[in-house]
Amino acid sequence: MTEQLAKARAYEAAHMGEAEKRPLFHFTPPTGWMNDPNGFSLYGGKHHLFFQYNPYAAKWGPMHWGHCVTEDFIHWKTLPAALAPDSDADLQGCFSGGAVAAPNGRHALIYTGCRWKRKEGHDEDVRQRQCIAFGDGLDYEKPAVDGKGSNVVIDGGALPESFSREDFRDPKVWKDGDFYRMLVVNRAADGCGQMLKFHSEDLLNWRYDGVVAHNDGARHGIMWECAEMAKIDGRAVYFVSGQDMRAAGREFQSGNHAFYFFGDKNGNAPRPLEPRNLDYGFDYYATQTLKIADGRIIQIAWMQNWDTDFKPLDFKWNGQLTLPREMTIRNGALYQNPVRELMRYRQDLMRKKGLTVRGVWRDDLLSGRVMDLNIDIYGGQFREFAIHFAHDDNFDFAVVYDRAKQTLTVDRTLIGSVRDIPTVRSMPLHKTEAHKDASAPLKLRIILDKYSAEIFANDGAQTFTATFYTPLSADKIFFESDGEAVVDLDAYRILP
Ligand code: FRU
Repeated sequence: MTEQLAKARAYEAAHMGEAEKRPLFHFTPPTGWMNDPNGFSLYGGKHHLFFQYNPYAAKWGPMHWGHCVTEDFIHWKTLPAALAPDSDADLQGCFSGGAVAAPNGRHALIYTGCRWKRKEGHDEDVRQRQCIAFGDGLDYEKPAVDGKGSNVVIDGGALPESFSREDFRDPKVWKDGDFYRMLVVNRAADGCGQMLKFHSEDLLNWRYDGVVAHNDGARHGIMWECAEMAKIDGRAVYFVSGQDMRAAGREFQSGNHAFYFFGDKNGNAPRPLEPRNLDYGFDYYATQTLKIADGRIIQIAWMQNWDTDFKPLDFKWNGQLTLPREMTIRNGALYQNPVRELMRYRQDLMRKKGLTVRGVWRDDLLSGRVMDLNIDIYGGQFREFAIHFAHDDNFDFAVVYDRAKQTLTVDRTLIGSVRDIPTVRSMPLHKTEAHKDASAPLKLRIILDKYSAEIFANDGAQTFTATFYTPLSADKIFFESDGEAVVDLDAYRILP
């Protein structure tokens, strides 16, 4: 083991803590900073997950790969850090990537090695290359595979001349018959993001196979990050996270934003691209997927993004992953719902059927910050219906349904942030077959885990993810309606 990795492992072992400040079933780093999930894979009968990780500070820095495993996607076992930036190709960081079982029986991690020189205050000679490490599910080594003593498997030389060697990162790898396939994001000559494909028989020698998708006219962000693909019901679904997006109507927001698109029969994206929003919230980026043993496609993402870093200053960890979601395709669109394993941990059901809400409705028994709230709103004569939670005299988180406009507006103005982060955002409610009629119930499922809310609308047709780091004593939940609304409520505590 290299000195850098041993140092990182010793540091995290000595600084792991703050159990009381952590969410109960969302993964958080042992100490320091995390961003993207990486290497979501099945190996040795376990679901492995890695993550972009700086153990030494609660902010982005020299990227390591942290590591954890899970059986049920609810309980996470943290393992020692898997990779440190310690080799010639990755001295400035082991950036995002994927993992797959290798032909030699080992677990292969394929990640982006990042190198640059710092000159007169800025970075020069930036190089991003795809690198490999092999391990046994616990300890990983970077083999010398390129004849020059490094673990690089694809460098810029494999690309057409005009493609960037600086922005060439975040590989996704999977096994496809006799081959391994890889997707990588890259910057094209026009400055826009694109997704490239490669194939290999041994994970070491890769052939370039062309461009899968290109961000024509910079319509969907500028550079793309985090290439991802899943076959769902026989269709290839591609995922990317766009940097520097411009808001487009209410469908896409500005900033950093994850979206998806379907591939055509040849596995390429149609032109023009028809991207769809993956999550309308503030805190969702860098999607990874995994097909698990029973055939479900599970998705996970970083529950934050580059513009929403505002955790309390006294927390020694920074960053969370989303609750893993099951993905299916219905009516030509992606549906996302919490992993069904969550239901095993529901307790203390409070059920109200046909509850009439006019003005404010509260019940002293309805409070909590780790909850599974199932709320159907219908009937009556109301314009706006609000669900408030994480509430006390100082703090509040509101989800407001506007029935005429068919929007769901999230307002987290009162979450005590001292940063000027986005706080109010509206999501247009898509009308699926089942919900065409405005008088049809709006079905919401809201998962709370201390500092986050994941909102699943209309059986998972749309999702909205947001974090809020308020004191846990702000735990009141209540409803408010400007007319008469009828509600079915199933509220559970979650005790994992
Ligand atoms: C996305 C990203 C990736 C990169 C990593 C660095 O959030 O910027 O493109 O590999 O994070 O930590």
